[in-house]
Amino acid sequence: MNLVLEKLPQGFLFFEKQAPMDLFDARGLLLLTRGQLVTEWIRERLASSEVYTLKSEVKTVTHTKSFPKDLYWDIVGSLWSIYHDVGLITSEQISKTMVSIEWIINEIKDKCIYIDTNSLRVDLASFKEHDYCTFVHAVNVAILSALTARELGYKGQRLRYLTMGAILHDIGKIKVPYEILNKPGPLSKSEFYIIQQHPLEGEAMLRNAEVLPSILNTVRQHHERWSGNGYPNGLSGSRIHLDAQIIAVADVYDALTADRPYRKALPPYHALEMILAMEKDFNPMVIQAFRKSLNLYPKDSLVTLNTGERGLVVAVPTSFPTRPLVRLLFDRNGKYVDKDTYIDLMCELTSFIIETSFRNSKA
Ligand SMILES: [Fe+2]
Repeated sequence: MNLVLEKLPQGFLFFEKQAPMDLFDARGLLLLTRGQLVTEWIRERLASSEVYTLKSEVKTVTHTKSFPKDLYWDIVGSLWSIYHDVGLITSEQISKTMVSIEWIINEIKDKCIYIDTNSLRVDLASFKEHDYCTFVHAVNVAILSALTARELGYKGQRLRYLTMGAILHDIGKIKVPYEILNKPGPLSKSEFYIIQQHPLEGEAMLRNAEVLPSILNTVRQHHERWSGNGYPNGLSGSRIHLDAQIIAVADVYDALTADRPYRKALPPYHALEMILAMEKDFNPMVIQAFRKSLNLYPKDSLVTLNTGERGLVVAVPTSFPTRPLVRLLFDRNGKYVDKDTYIDLMCELTSFIIETSFRNSKA
């Protein structure tokens, strides 16, 4: 079962009557709770806006699978060993990378994939080398970009090249000194300039390996923005290669959900809401595909809320994947709740999920 917002016909509210159901605006924000008195002032306000209610929508059950952790670490390890400590990338190294690309594509093929980058990063604590962090980020961005591209209809070679561009997008960061990449405070002008060179450095490193022009463009353009406010060339709109537009969204999401020397990681729902709000910086079509492909809280995952309550995800609104319906298992004091109690995050707007644990559903 999914919960969806259904638009109500205009003029259905009668003066001095109670709201027959919870009412929302188009973004899912609660306007009126069920039973609230509809005064003339409220009726006039609502008459000029679109009003929605929540409806359940029965869908075929989709079995979700998490991205295999062993395979994930194999890909990170192979990338690290291929590119560790090199100045120029060779065509042999690119061919070896193709194995990782095939692993990723094969894993996401026709499957609903859950990727919990936070739990994967826990393993990273034992690795201190800065380029290891770059490779973990590269693998996350490659998986997220491939999922988004699949949603946009990418197949075959086109999907492979996109994933290749994603896995190589930050290769130029190998040239950025560790102290600058991990500086806890704000960057100076000259340090920021060095960071801004990494798309160009990456492109130069790959040119030697004779990769396809589309991949060179992707690497060079992944920090360009739809609005024209990106770097290194300030390209805007469709002048940016579509592969680079896709990778840009995955790149920002993965950066927001990772700990940085100057801030803690954002929870996935917060990062996704920030991306959805960045409509000027990203192609809206790409944002929508990213949102659809990101499986944040699969059905039956166990979640912990900021209130301390714990429960199971029972339904996810198609349009608002960050606000599922949760069946309460333990209250905020850790006491088991033995009768059916639900927390609807579409209504409880101050509650949010801080932790998820997910087990693969049986196929
Ligand atoms: Fe980058």
